[in-house]
Formats: sequence, C-alpha cells, structure tokens
Amino acid sequence: MKKSESAMLETFMAEHLPNIERELAQCLPPDDAYPEKLHQAMRYSTLGGGKRLRGLLAVAAAQLAAKERFPAVRSAAYRLAAAVEMLHTYSLIHDDLPCMDDDDFRRGKPSNHKVFGEAVAVLAGDALLTESFALLGQLPDLGVPVEVVVAIMREMAAAGGSRGLIGGQVVDLESEGKQISAETLEYIHTHKTGALFRAVLRCGALLGRASQAELAAVTRYADGFGLCFQIVDDILDVVGDESKLGKKVGSDALQGKVTYVTLYGLEGARSLAVKAMEEAKAALAGLEGTYILECLAEYIVHRDH
Ligand code: IPE
Ligand code: IPE
Ligand code: MG
Ligand code: MG
Ligand code: MG
Repeated sequence: MKKSESAMLETFMAEHLPNIERELAQCLPPDDAYPEKLHQAMRYSTLGGGKRLRGLLAVAAAQLAAKERFPAVRSAAYRLAAAVEMLHTYSLIHDDLPCMDDDDFRRGKPSNHKVFGEAVAVLAGDALLTESFALLGQLPDLGVPVEVVVAIMREMAAAGGSRGLIGGQVVDLESEGKQISAETLEYIHTHKTGALFRAVLRCGALLGRASQAELAAVTRYADGFGLCFQIVDDILDVVGDESKLGKKVGSDALQGKVTYVTLYGLEGARSLAVKAMEEAKAALAGLEGTYILECLAEYIVHRDH
C-alpha cells in the first residue's frame, strides 16, 4: 500500500470511526436497561472492537455519491453504518456458537456465549438483527426520503436473508468435512460475506442518491471487495497472528472447512485475493471521488487483522 494511500485512509478513518462508534453506543439500549443481561450482551459484542469496515464502506459510498451534498446526509450515513454494524455483529455472535463454528474468542475477548451463555447469545444476536432494521426505520427522521429508505431496507433484508448471508452460512456448515467444488466455495463466500458488503455499499450509494452508473460501478466494486475480503479471512485463519486478529487461528482446519487456502494453496489464494481487489478497483474507473474506496480495497488485501 502506498504511503499516500495509507495517509488518506487514516484521515478518512479519523474523521468517521469515532462518529460510527458514538452512533452505535447511543443507538444500543444502555447496559442498565431491563433486561440488563440481554442489553449487556448486545453491547459487549458490538462495542469496543471490530474494524467497522462495513460502516466505513457505507459512509464512503454515501460520500462518493453525494459529493458536495455529503454534509446533508452525514447523520443518516452514520445511522446506516450503525445499523449494518449491528447486523454484522449479530452474525458474528451466531457464527461463534458451539452449533456453528464453536469459537471461544472474538474481537480480542471471550465470545458472547462464553460470557452470557448460549441462550442469551442467540437472543442478543436476534435482538441486534431486529434493532438494525429499527435504526433503518429512523432514517426518515434524518431527512431521507421514504422511497430511499424502503430501497435500503429491501437491500439489507435480502442480503441478510436466506438468499444472502444465511444461505452462505448454511452451505458453509453443510460443507464441513466434505470435498466441495470451487463453485460451491464461491457460493459460500459470496453469500456468507459478500452479500452484506454489496448491500452496505449499495445502501450508502442509495443514501447519497447515486446515479445508475455510480450504483452499477459500486456494485461491481462490492463484489470484488467482498470476495477479496473473505479470501484474506481464510488466509489469516492459517497464517494470521491471534493477538492482532482477536480471534483464534486454525479454526477452519479444526472445523474441516474447505477454504480458498485448502483449495488453491496459500500462494494461489493470495493471487486470487489480489485479482479480486484489482477487479474491485477497476470497476470504479471513470468515476470521480473514488480514492477512498480504492484505498480500502488495498487495505483489505494487505491487512493483518
Ligand atoms: C469477520 O468480519 C467475519 C467475516 C465475514 C469473515 P470482520 O473481519 O470484518 O470482523 P470485525 O467486524 O472487524 O470484527
Ligand atoms: C463468517 O465467516 C461469516 C459470517 C459471520 C456471516 P467466518 O466463520 O469465516 O468468520 P470468522 O473467521 O469466524 O470471523
Ligand atoms: Mg463461519
Ligand atoms: Mg467463524
Ligand atoms: Mg474465517
């Protein structure tokens, strides 16, 4: 990653990360709201950890589309970012359950079910998913036209549903311990992970009132980005540093998962990740104001956590 790119990204993150974090903290019910254990569980997994990539992508896409009108959609972009980070956190809590990947660490601390028990972890996840849509339902209060809010909700529901994230998770689990084809693995990755990236980028763009050309380009970018991101997640599960990742490495091998590394080897997986990242960047060619999205694509391929 070039120095100019990382400096630009740092400035972007310094501007938006604290706002996304604050929005999340304010939107989640407080720790002492009854039933306290549930709300503590929701806040425990959501706050104080996580790269907030999905939130940042929503803001970056809104900025790209809105251009000089961004100040008018800034608050709504943070509400959208909080909603997607809550939905993402729900998926992580459930992903770590003993009936799924059975992982005891997440975001540098014991997984939700290790602290609160399985039943509360399931329910905290359910509540985060539901609350994320409640946040989207507040967007009209922040000046977003109702038809745009409906389009955003439709994107998020489809991405989180059985033809998106859940479908990917089911095929991921059903494939444990089996030899699966490259097509099945691509289905898993594009659905369990890619669908949500596609939705947040499209929702950010919709919020910024993107043109058809911008929306199409952002969608193609999202598909490359999502695939690249999950290939790197597979690679880090083999060669990553637990203290940086905040989760256990070797989890995929333990669960008998087929990953990009088992199918293509480390070097093969790396070059496929780079290819997907290049395709993501190429999708933006011809648009103005794409630098942050380009930097974010570079960042995920080189990330160590
Ligand atoms: C982890 O996502 C789950 C996958 C989809 C691979 P992230 O690596 O974005 O997790 P956080 O939000 O930073 O913890
Ligand atoms: C998780 O994929 C995808 C979702 C949570 C929807 P992984 O199972 O590979 O994520 P990690 O490696 O546990 O973060
Ligand atoms: Mg999983
Ligand atoms: Mg997992
Ligand atoms: Mg993984």
